[in-house]
Amino acid sequence: MPMPKIRLLDADTINKIAAGEVIERPASAIKELVENSIDAGATKILIEVAEGGKSLIKVTDDGCGMEPEDLSMAFQKHATSKITGAKDLDRIETLGFRGEALASIASVARSIEVYTKTRSASTGTYLRMENSRIVEKKETGCPAGTSISVRELFYNVPARRKHLKGREAELVHIVDTVTEMAIINYGISFELFSGRRTLFRSSRSGSWDEVLLRIFDLKTLKGMMPFHAEGLKWRLLGAAGDPMSTRSSPDRIFIYVNGRPVSSRALTAALREAYRSVIPSGRSPIGVVSLEIVPGLVDVNVHPTKREIRLLQEEEISASLTSAVSEALREKAEAKPLKEMPRTEPPATQASVIVQKSEQKMLPLDGAAASEEVEVSVASEVPQVKILGQVQRLYILAESDQGLLIIDQHAAAERIRFERLKALYSQKKISQELAEPVTIELAPNEQVLIESWKDVLQEIGFEISPFGGKTYHVRAVPALGRKVESPEAVHDVLRALFTLGKIGPDDTSKEEILKLLACKGSIKSGRELSMQEMTALLRDLYACNSPLTCPHGRPVIVAITQGELERLFLRR
Ligand SMILES: Nc1ncnc2c1ncn2[C@@H]1O[C@H](COP(=O)(O)OP(=O)(O)OP(=O)(O)O)[C@@H](O)[C@H]1O
Ligand SMILES: [Mg+2]
Repeated sequence: MPMPKIRLLDADTINKIAAGEVIERPASAIKELVENSIDAGATKILIEVAEGGKSLIKVTDDGCGMEPEDLSMAFQKHATSKITGAKDLDRIETLGFRGEALASIASVARSIEVYTKTRSASTGTYLRMENSRIVEKKETGCPAGTSISVRELFYNVPARRKHLKGREAELVHIVDTVTEMAIINYGISFELFSGRRTLFRSSRSGSWDEVLLRIFDLKTLKGMMPFHAEGLKWRLLGAAGDPMSTRSSPDRIFIYVNGRPVSSRALTAALREAYRSVIPSGRSPIGVVSLEIVPGLVDVNVHPTKREIRLLQEEEISASLTSAVSEALREKAEAKPLKEMPRTEPPATQASVIVQKSEQKMLPLDGAAASEEVEVSVASEVPQVKILGQVQRLYILAESDQGLLIIDQHAAAERIRFERLKALYSQKKISQELAEPVTIELAPNEQVLIESWKDVLQEIGFEISPFGGKTYHVRAVPALGRKVESPEAVHDVLRALFTLGKIGPDDTSKEEILKLLACKGSIKSGRELSMQEMTALLRDLYACNSPLTCPHGRPVIVAITQGELERLFLRR
């Protein structure tokens, strides 16, 4: 086959290809427009969306505005007012510098309308673009600043449109994007609307605390410890969360470099490192890290969305971050009364076996003291089991006619709770009213999520109603026992559910949800159990339909038979 001829692509195609890199979804267009408003010196930014930003995005600011000539230029590729040449790439102080965001948005949207006026001009300018072409431009009266409306993003890029998620899911991305920018730009007031719903609002202030309060509750915010560190050419400022306020994912670690939200594996890892021995493994701290560094030491031009950066002196900065946060944590721990100290995981080395000789007994397990939390009807055939003790506060050692049994206490509790929840769910009795209703405060993204989870939450036993602003009343929860009563615990379960379905509950089966609930309400690994608790646990475990594996498929009981023991000791 002859090689096809090489040809240059036309400008429109080039723009669409470039747009694919910068504008992934409505939230990316919002990020670009808001960045332009910030660069324009705005003190107030209003963002309106419809259909999760798919049908309309409108960003209005009170920034410097544009002259009529500049406005026409703004939508051309590589047109920027922020740098004049390659030499400036080493000293970028604005968020934008490529001069391609507006051109990219224009190439993938059905239409764009702009109203803009500089402060000194007496009239403003209106511009309308369709398919990257200016179709109307005229003088008009409008307030100082700029307002840009983008209609039907991706209307001519079906491949991209198909990959967009549902309305609520895109809204969550938008809320996250706006939240992230509002924290570091605390001197600017932000407002985000979807229809008549206010999804996020922050007012101008002198520190990021005001914004953080919109995201975290007051207690979490009060637990945050400010920290700072300094090198010759950089400065770190931040707030590190209390070790008690952890999350299952690092999505509440906000990292900024020169005012730009970035993903930095190194800095995230450095922050987590400070918490390594004070929070359970698998949990993530919360925190804000802001690095200010001379522009020459950071390359922001390595990724189209500028999300990734290259940082010189990264190791030095990371090490300083870890030690600054460790220091803040130590000071806090010293100031705290002992009983409030976070529980650390027991060291993994050296098995300590607790043998409670005095309490040893043979069980017909059904005769044991009733468990307070888990009640499962007892199966008729209960094996004879003698509990020997607990190892590493993780495993129960027992003896039965099968040999030596090692039982994972957390996995066992999970299995028991899972079967119980399943039974209650099918009998429609899963909901459990709280003795005292609790009040929780949801972050803006969670307020969107709770809407889309409404039906499922109700089905699995939650009774939650909005109480104005970010406050919600919780009257009932899934019957998980005493464990889920505090606002923190309720919030933690909700958060876990939200991340489980990632965005929406539709594709998450009920079984998965019940598994997660079972896990949430179960006794944790690393807790010392009394003989009575161990007895109750085993009795309930043997009453389960599938006592041998936890709901996630991991083993609950490992048996070492008599034959195996003999072989181990070379008796055979
Ligand atoms: N809200 C605004 N207020 C004032 N001027 C604006 C605004 N939005 C855009 N502009 C002007 O339009 C130009 C082009 O914007 P665009 O976002 O396409 O490029 P950029 O911000 O320079 O670079 P980047 O592509 O990296 O964002 C800007 O350089 C700026 O001069
Ligand atoms: Mg820009």
